[in-house]
Amino acid sequence: MPIYSEILLDHFHHPRNLGEIEHADAVGDASNGTCGDLMRLFLNIRAGRVTEAQFMTLGCAAAIATGSMLTEMIRNKPLEEALKVTNEQVAAALGGLPAEKIHCSVLAEQALQSAVTAWRAHAGRKK
Ligand code: FES
Repeated sequence: MPIYSEILLDHFHHPRNLGEIEHADAVGDASNGTCGDLMRLFLNIRAGRVTEAQFMTLGCAAAIATGSMLTEMIRNKPLEEALKVTNEQVAAALGGLPAEKIHCSVLAEQALQSAVTAWRAHAGRKK
């Protein structure tokens, strides 16, 4: 039985939204202290909506795929809805993750939370 689903492998081989948004409205970083992998998420947020989402990672195949899927899932969503996207939902959308790779999806969720926290803190924004 393959360790990764076909959906995950497709997002690994053809990551969506990979790269940097120049002058992004929000940038969030996450890292995993055990494996050392990193993820950076870039967002544009306009009128309470995530209008653009891109990511970069120094991570494994699952990290690349979860960054790809997360950005697809939050693009064009109201910010409050985007924030409700969990690592479990991202993993499920990828056809599941092996137990030892769940932390890779947590990286993407933490990068999202970090970006929005920084965006809200900037200029005292509340939302
Ligand atoms: Fe650490 Fe995948 S092994 S993010």
